[in-house]
Amino acid sequence: MTKIISPSLLSADFGNLQAECEMINRSAAEWLHIDVMDGVFVPNISFGFPVMEAVKKHCKKTLDVHLMIVEPERYVERFVKAGAEILTVHLETLKDPAETLKMMRALGVKVGITINPDIPVSQLRGLVDKVDMVLLMSVFAGYGGQKFIEETYSRIEELKAIITDENPNCLIQIDGGVNTENAPKLFNAGVHILVAGSAVFKSENPLATIETMLR
Ligand code: DX5
Ligand code: ZN
Repeated sequence: MTKIISPSLLSADFGNLQAECEMINRSAAEWLHIDVMDGVFVPNISFGFPVMEAVKKHCKKTLDVHLMIVEPERYVERFVKAGAEILTVHLETLKDPAETLKMMRALGVKVGITINPDIPVSQLRGLVDKVDMVLLMSVFAGYGGQKFIEETYSRIEELKAIITDENPNCLIQIDGGVNTENAPKLFNAGVHILVAGSAVFKSENPLATIETMLR
């Protein structure tokens, strides 16, 4: 069973980005989650290409890029060139989801699709076979440090049924409000990758926190 922690850079100390990347390199986290926000799809603005390129220079882990931007199809190629190894787009932002996912696949990147907590999981039917991963948001995209939405567990069950039907190799990722308490429950529920921002970067001992989440 795949069990991966993807710490979200959004909660890192941007004044010490190199040190934060080196800390992640030393950790048991296999991925690093990069939240790109445009102030349009979500009310918040995070960072873009220059930060991502700096991270690529120092981070040895798989770069897991979560685009919270409108018209993502305009930028996916640049994100792949900037070092994204897995690139996730929001269904809510796609005019022609099947076409965009196909175009992303052709770029040679692993493709993810995600939905906010208010979008029915059933809307992913017919798309799961076109992606490597589905990210179910467990908070509304936009900010770190929000509370985990408990309804996520029933949404995971719904998603698992679709994955069984359409693409048994598809990975499941959860993002938002993940901590050392709910991490084991989420892995037990069949989640493969957990994104954790504040729980990791604001912890006294991030390396130990990551290990605890994996236990
Ligand atoms: C929210 C982002 C998350 C965020 C998670 O829009 O997609 O990746 O950084 O932060 P925590 O783990 O603090 O909820
Ligand atoms: Zn994210």
